[in-house]
Amino acid sequence: MGRKFFVGGNWKCNGTTEDVKKIVSTLNAGELPSTDIVEVVVSPPFVFLTSVKSELRPEIQVAAQNCWVKKGGAFTGEVSAEMLVNLGVPWVILGHSERRALLHETNEFVGDKVAYALSQGLKVIACVGETLEQREAGTTMEVVAAQTKAIADKISSWDNVVLAYEPVWAIGTGKVASPAQAQEVHAGLRKWFEENISADVAATTRIIYGGSVSGSNCKELGGQPDVDGFLVGGASLKPEFIDIIKAAEVKCA
Ligand code: PGA
Repeated sequence: MGRKFFVGGNWKCNGTTEDVKKIVSTLNAGELPSTDIVEVVVSPPFVFLTSVKSELRPEIQVAAQNCWVKKGGAFTGEVSAEMLVNLGVPWVILGHSERRALLHETNEFVGDKVAYALSQGLKVIACVGETLEQREAGTTMEVVAAQTKAIADKISSWDNVVLAYEPVWAIGTGKVASPAQAQEVHAGLRKWFEENISADVAATTRIIYGGSVSGSNCKELGGQPDVDGFLVGGASLKPEFIDIIKAAEVKCA
């Protein structure tokens, strides 16, 4: 069975109610490939999750951008996995590099978060990626393997996980990884799965690329054999996101 193309839109900390209405109506009006070809998930800020979920066409799912590492309680400002499940939010993004860098989330903490979210029934978009310094030092594979291992150490199944490879130097910079650079790391991660988890997990886990994906570079990136979709930041707020979703069709050619 092939890996279904996956396109996530990470809205980050952007938008007013007016902006959100506009994005939702663009998505609702867009001509999209069938759900047999592509799985689409958008991730608005927490405060807009329920309204987006109720106003969006049913083929597009929603994701939270984070959740707490364990059961809810006295953790001011946090949102628990149980709350997301209670609201019918099926997905959560965990380990995004902005949280790793700005909020000092460690590999182990991200692993714990992924494990807890899965245990509550959420599906997870787990992010990994190297900084420019790490790439220039030649340690890219080592870094993403360690980030992936920290997750693997805490979970028993990858069925409900999509792994997002997002080189930090490509996020929000307009400096996209070349298709060859993306393919190299995706293939490396798949090999890591094969050697450390199982051939089945390697064959079935979707590995998506994130970092300055746009309407103009998505087809070439999506055409790489180990690129199973995208996690899109800036361009997911624009009508161009529809074109990025359509890039799924490159796999059908
Ligand atoms: P970008 O962000 O598309 O704006 O580079 C990607 C992401 O952070 O997921």
